[in-house]
Amino acid sequence: METNKSKNVFLIGFMGCGKSTMARMLSRDTQMKLIEMDETIEAEEKMSINDMFEKFGEEYFRNLESELIQRISRKGNCVVSCGGGAILREDNVKHMKENGKIIYFSATPETIYKRVKHSTHRPLLNGNMNVEYITELMDKRLPLYEKAADEVICVDDKEKRQIVEELKKIVETMYLIDNKG
Ligand code: S3P
Repeated sequence: METNKSKNVFLIGFMGCGKSTMARMLSRDTQMKLIEMDETIEAEEKMSINDMFEKFGEEYFRNLESELIQRISRKGNCVVSCGGGAILREDNVKHMKENGKIIYFSATPETIYKRVKHSTHRPLLNGNMNVEYITELMDKRLPLYEKAADEVICVDDKEKRQIVEELKKIVETMYLIDNKG
């Protein structure tokens, strides 16, 4: 699949919606460079996100996240798996839009809960691992995800292959449109 090498694809959505897996699959199928934001931050800081939140607080992590988005937005041909909170700062979204397209994976709180219930590496969910909390946090964030999104893929009850095929179609269409214009 031919992609526009000056553009990036940013995958956004709530924790556990499948951004990392889909980014990996899309990168494999398209030769786009894979960037997993959380992993990059952890590698650069030589520290887990859990520890970062605990030792330095959420704001410290959010600053690193913003700084990484700025660096990525100067690159091209990357598929970026964003942290679930990457859309919280307006400036982050602005940078993503400047040289990329944003695709939002939507999922119900129940789907999310099923996927994250055994996870312990997400500080916001540690001690809050229940559908009620996920619903509350998602309700706060939904308008931000929806506002940022150029395209939306609903991932509820879908197999990985189906989601990646939908993703590839969207990316192809976006680039075809852009290449014409
Ligand atoms: C967060 C999501 C996490 C990670 C951090 C905060 C959030 O990423 O960046 O724990 O605020 O939603 P994933 O969405 O990849 O789990």
